[in-house]
Amino acid sequence: MRLRGRAAVVTGGTSGLGRSIAEALLREGAGVVCAARSERDMARIAELAGDRAVFHCTDVRDPGSVDALMRFAQQHFGRLDLCVANAGVTRDGPVHTLDPKEWEEVIGTNLTGTFHCVQAATPYLRQTGGSVVAISSALSTRVSEGAAAYSVSKAGIDMLTRACAAELAAFGIRVNAVAPGFISEGMGSRLADNDLVWGEYHKRLLSGRPGTGAEVGRAVVFLASPEGAYVNGHVLEVNGGLRWA
Ligand SMILES: NC(=O)c1ccc[n+]([C@@H]2O[C@H](COP(=O)([O-])OP(=O)(O)OC[C@H]3O[C@@H](n4cnc5c(N)ncnc54)[C@H](OP(=O)(O)O)[C@@H]3O)[C@@H](O)[C@H]2O)c1
Repeated sequence: MRLRGRAAVVTGGTSGLGRSIAEALLREGAGVVCAARSERDMARIAELAGDRAVFHCTDVRDPGSVDALMRFAQQHFGRLDLCVANAGVTRDGPVHTLDPKEWEEVIGTNLTGTFHCVQAATPYLRQTGGSVVAISSALSTRVSEGAAAYSVSKAGIDMLTRACAAELAAFGIRVNAVAPGFISEGMGSRLADNDLVWGEYHKRLLSGRPGTGAEVGRAVVFLASPEGAYVNGHVLEVNGGLRWA
């Protein structure tokens, strides 16, 4: 129970990887606001922790909506210690045919959405000496044809993490990121169902298996907990040893 009495926001915390992260935080005793546009698996998450898990309808592309989210977390739990900027989407397609609206949707959700979260959470996190964990991806540093928008958004998150760590250190706020590889939840599970894709990845994985959401959740807990207090501005790869330059 390393996070007992702490309060967290997890965007996209209602399904997939976000749900696993929320569950890991709840198991460590935190109160968690799961924020997304729809409730999805919220009932299942609430079963784990009763009134320590609450839903807030949020669109991370809208700064007003994200402001309302952080205000809600502060009012509901009386404090905010952790913001996990996890909400993300992907739209595949080569750059010469990708619809500009899809590019905008990916960058707006993944990168600008993370910026909105950091900005809106800062006034509350500075009161508690809290931290931010952004969710990047193995594709932030590797080229995958057809995933330019997604990769660029995640590369931006890596740099945003370092920039925010430098700027917010004066307020006692740490900012880190977790870069998951092939995870058997959410988007990753959809890839794992594709034999061709899995066949390609499998050869490159030292672990020989996809990761679990719980394994990513534990990395977030580490960065958010006192054990992670001396880690700042770091992008932690949780990818089973992905041998892919
Ligand atoms: N799964 C993997 O293998 C893997 C690997 C590396 C990185 N990641 C990253 O992990 C994060 C979670 O992905 P996932 O795999 O769990 O995908 P997912 O199952 O599709 O979940 C995405 C979550 O984000 C929410 N979301 C999307 N757009 C939003 C918006 N505009 N405002 C608020 N919430 C929004 C969704 O809820 P609503 O649609 O209801 O809003 C949903 O809860 C993403 O950042 C992804 O890039 C995943």
